[in-house]
Amino acid sequence: MRITPSILNADFARLGAEIARVPSADAIHVDVMDNHFVPNLTMGVPVVESLRKATAKMLDIHLMIEDPDRWAPVYAELGAESVTFHIEAVTAPVRLARALHAKGARASVALNPGTPVEMVTAFLGEIDMVTVMSVEPGFGGQSFMDLVLPKVRELRRLINAENLDIWVQMDGGVSVETIERCVEAGADTFVAGSAVFKTDDPDQMVRQLRTIAASCGCGAGK
Ligand code: DX5
Ligand code: ZN
Repeated sequence: MRITPSILNADFARLGAEIARVPSADAIHVDVMDNHFVPNLTMGVPVVESLRKATAKMLDIHLMIEDPDRWAPVYAELGAESVTFHIEAVTAPVRLARALHAKGARASVALNPGTPVEMVTAFLGEIDMVTVMSVEPGFGGQSFMDLVLPKVRELRRLINAENLDIWVQMDGGVSVETIERCVEAGADTFVAGSAVFKTDDPDQMVRQLRTIAASCGCGAGK
């Protein structure tokens, strides 16, 4: 069970210090938005370059942008260990996954709430993680959408049936109230933004989320 805090709801004037507040995090989730693929604008290459120098933690760069084919490899070159691109935006997902691998990064594909699992089944063997969005991407602090849970179940079934080593990540509205449902469905990696950074003790929340996920008796694959 991996907990990856999203810094979208952290203080953007002091991101390095904010990351230092979650030493228990398994990775840091960085939401890159371009105001075209989603109706919000956040950060890009120069900020991620600085974040790379500020932390040794695994970085997962979630690209909510048009033309990930062009930009995703740049983040891998900067030293991000994982780059997540959207299936709704990419032109050549297999070529892009291979380009990320060639640059030493994990390749992750994200699905918006209305996008079916069938969009990625043909090339599951090429990727390292599927990110199932449990909100429409663009903003932190939105309510978790239960309607995506059948997709997580389907993905978990396929991954287990084919004995693949692929992480299933849930992104959006993950909290102490919703994480058990995600685990039950088969997710093993959890982005949490507002749940973590809107508390007084973000690291305690990371540990609490992991404890709930690990102990709800319904681990990934069931
Ligand atoms: C939404 C982003 C998420 C978001 C999660 O567009 O991709 O990563 O930051 O934030 P919470 O946990 O507040 O939904
Ligand atoms: Zn995200």
